[in-house]
Amino acid sequence: EMIDMTVPAAPAPLPVEPPSGCPFDPPAEFGALRTEEPISKISLPDGSWAWLATRYADIRAILGDTRFSSDTTLHGYPLSGMTGGGNQQNRGFIRMDPPEHTRLRRMVTREFMVKRVEALRPEIQRLTDELCDAMERRAGEPVDLVEALALPVPSLVISLLLGVPYDDHDVFQRLTGKLLSRTIAEPEREAARRELRDYLDALVTAKEKAPGDDILGRLIVEQQRTGEISHDDVAAFAALLLIAGHETTANMIGLSALTLMRDPDSAERLRQDPTLIRGAVEELLRFHSIIRNGPRRVATTDLEIDGQLIRAGEGVVVAVPSANRDATVFADPDRLDVARANAQHHVAFGYGIHQCLGQALARVELQVVIGTLLRRFPTMRPAVPVEEIPFRTDMAIYGCHALPVTW
Ligand code: HEM
Repeated sequence: EMIDMTVPAAPAPLPVEPPSGCPFDPPAEFGALRTEEPISKISLPDGSWAWLATRYADIRAILGDTRFSSDTTLHGYPLSGMTGGGNQQNRGFIRMDPPEHTRLRRMVTREFMVKRVEALRPEIQRLTDELCDAMERRAGEPVDLVEALALPVPSLVISLLLGVPYDDHDVFQRLTGKLLSRTIAEPEREAARRELRDYLDALVTAKEKAPGDDILGRLIVEQQRTGEISHDDVAAFAALLLIAGHETTANMIGLSALTLMRDPDSAERLRQDPTLIRGAVEELLRFHSIIRNGPRRVATTDLEIDGQLIRAGEGVVVAVPSANRDATVFADPDRLDVARANAQHHVAFGYGIHQCLGQALARVELQVVIGTLLRRFPTMRPAVPVEEIPFRTDMAIYGCHALPVTW
């Protein structure tokens, strides 16, 4: 009996490294893929493969089509090795499909609506000013901007909204860091997942006895006590909102600050005309696209994207950083243009039914922090050469692990 021993050429893994020299640009391979092979194959850490979509139009078509599922427990879902296995019980609505996704997301949408979030702006400004006061007292010594400002602002804000005691924030900062890492081993990640679950479980139990005037308190009173959701569902909301609301904005703050320190002309322009900051934040979101290797989906039926047949059960990795550098949508896409007219068309927050729930909050946080840094620390600069800044090439969310600055 003849056995075909030829091994088909295995697809390359997802490109993740920025091209040498520029710490901000997405992997160089994306450019060629967009023009030559917009729906290509990549290999996954578990030895399977998935489709990689790199064009803006295709990515909107995929994320806007609910025949692609976000359910990580489905066969064929392209796991990154970071999302923590497919069989988690309480995975949060980010990994669910309608109608369950719709039902759960609706319970918290009003908490993150523009009007609600705009009302928080003075409080976010106050927190930012306090942290900047503390930084000013350390003038002369190098300060790690990530630790001093970029992480605490979103941490404090989401802790406040959820009703998580801020004193506990070291616990979940450490744990979310592990959960989002690409390099730590699965046993350690599993331990972190369990520890976070236990912490949130205890937190929800405490809040069930004394629900406060905060998101978790309202979920308990309005949804859990009426039988709409369970204790575990409340804990899953907490886990999702804490993790999603934490490191994303923090990394955008760090990268944005660094970009503006390296681009004094843009910084000066924003200082001269602070009304440009709103648009500049959209451009920074587009330019950095910190979700570097997702979102991900699995097809639930055979369908065609850009002429490529995708079969039921096949996974798709959507390259948001590639979509946001697509020259058919954004002219001169690799240039940061703080006054770019259509920057807000970026897909840094995703697209479709799972589009970022916290985007209004992220925007206000970024506008406040960037505006305040430009105003209060006009001479701020990196305290080390850029080659010495530890970039998060090992993480699902791009950024810097630390950003030593001086002024
Ligand atoms: C979903 C990016 C900040 C909460 C998403 C998605 C992206 C994203 C790309 C879509 C995931 C998918 O389609 O599978 C970002 C970026 C942020 C940010 C770049 C900061 C600059 C936040 C904040 C919160 C948050 C501050 C606060 C709670 C969520 C939630 C979802 C989500 C709950 C799931 C929505 C759903 O499945 O319906 N985010 N996010 N995000 N984000 Fe954000």
